[in-house]
Amino acid sequence: MGERAPRILLGVSGSIAAYKAVELLRALTKAGAEVQIAMTRGARAFVQPLTFEAISGRSVLSDVLAVERGEIGHVERAHEVDLLLVAPASANVIARLAHGMADDPVTAIALSTEAPKAFAPAMESGMWRNPATTANVATLEARGWTRIGPGSGALASGRSGVGRMEEPAVIAERALALFGARDLAGRRVVITAGPTWEPLDPVRLLTNRSTGSMGIAIANAAARRGADVQLVLGPTHLRPSAAVTVHSVETAEQMLAAASAIDDVDVLIASAAVSDFRPRDARASKLKRGHAGADVLELDENPDVLATLSARWRATRPGLVVVGFAAETEDLVDNAREKLAKKGCDLVIGNVVGADRGFGAGDTEVVAVRADGEQSFGPASKDAVAEFVLDQVVRVGEQTPRG
Ligand SMILES: Cc1cc2nc3c(=O)[nH]c(=O)nc-3n(C[C@H](O)[C@H](O)[C@H](O)COP(=O)(O)O)c2cc1C
Repeated sequence: MGERAPRILLGVSGSIAAYKAVELLRALTKAGAEVQIAMTRGARAFVQPLTFEAISGRSVLSDVLAVERGEIGHVERAHEVDLLLVAPASANVIARLAHGMADDPVTAIALSTEAPKAFAPAMESGMWRNPATTANVATLEARGWTRIGPGSGALASGRSGVGRMEEPAVIAERALALFGARDLAGRRVVITAGPTWEPLDPVRLLTNRSTGSMGIAIANAAARRGADVQLVLGPTHLRPSAAVTVHSVETAEQMLAAASAIDDVDVLIASAAVSDFRPRDARASKLKRGHAGADVLELDENPDVLATLSARWRATRPGLVVVGFAAETEDLVDNAREKLAKKGCDLVIGNVVGADRGFGAGDTEVVAVRADGEQSFGPASKDAVAEFVLDQVVRVGEQTPRG
C-alpha cells in the first residue's frame, strides 16, 4: 500500500444489508484506511448516521443540499478521495449512478470524482436479474467501475438466491487491493486476447473456443493499476472497461499487424488463442456440397504472433517484459517451460484446458513458469488470476533493468 493511508468514501444505500456497512467500515479502518461515510436517503431509513459517526469519528454526509463550514461537502470530498466504494449498492442507487443523477451525496460524489470506483450490489434475486438492473450494472462496469459480488445465499426475504452482498471482509480486501496497486503507472501494456478467425470461404472459419475473458480481465486489472493498456482483441462479444484501448482484429495476420503498429511497449501479454494454421487460398465464394477436392483442407502456417513481437521489441526495448500463455490439455509445466525459451518469454502462464474447462468457464487454476522457478495459483476467479499475473509481471520487471 502507498505511504499514506488510503482515503475511502464509503457510500451506503438503502438495502437491508446497510447494517453490514458498519462491519465494512470497521474492516477498512482496521486495515489502515481513512473512511468518510456518505448515505443515501434510503440508507438513513435502515441505519442511523450516529452509528457510522461514532465508529468513523467523522460526521456523515447525508444532505447534498448543505453547505457546512463554508464547504460544499460533496465537491470537497470528491477531490479528496482515493476510492469511492458504494456498499451496499441498492438497485435504485445503481440505476441512479448509471444515469448520472446527483440527488444525494453518494451519487453527487460519484459524478464529481475522478477516483476509481467500486460497488457491491445487494438486492433480491428478482431485482438483480431484472434486465434494467443488468443494463445499469453493465453501464457502470463499462465506465470502469469495479463490481464486487453479489454472492448467493440467504436473502432478507427469507428466500435464497443470488443478490446477497459479498461479505464485508471480502469487500474490504478487494477495495484495498484496488487502491493499493498503481504499480503499472506510466507503463504501456499490450495484451492480445480472444480467438482468431481464419476464413475458409466467406461464411466458414477455423477458430477455437477462446472467449478472451482472461485477457480482458488482465486488461481491466492493468488499467486499474495505472497502465496504458492496448488490447488487441480477436472476435468476441466481451468488452473491457472504457479505460482500455481496443484494437479489434479477426485473423492471426491482422493481430500481428495491429500489435506491430503499437510503439514504446513495456509489457507484452500474449493471451490470445491464435490459430497456428489458416486455410490455404480462402475461397471468394461459398464452397458447395460435392465440390471437387472438398474432402481435403490445405493449411498454411500462421505467423507466430508472440515470438515475432517478442524478438522485434526486445531489440529496441531492453526492459521489455514478455508473458506467454500455454493452454494445454496435458504436461502443463513441461510445455510451459519449453515455450518460455522457444518464444522469448520472461514468464509463461500455463492452464489446463479442455472442452469443459478453461475457456470462458468460471474459476481457473494456473501455474506461472519462470526461468528461476514456478508458482501455482487458484482455482480462483479470472479477476483474481489477472491480479496474480500482473503481480508476476511487476516482479519480473523489477528484476529486469530498463534501458
Ligand atoms: C425492508 C426493506 C429491505 C430492502 N432491501 C433492499 C435491498 O437489499 N436492495 C435493494 O436494492 N433495495 C432494497 N429495498 C428497497 C430500497 O430501500 C428502495 O428501493 C430505496 O428507494 C432505495 O433508496 P436509495 O437509492 O436512496 O438507497 C428494501 C426495502 C425495504 C423496505
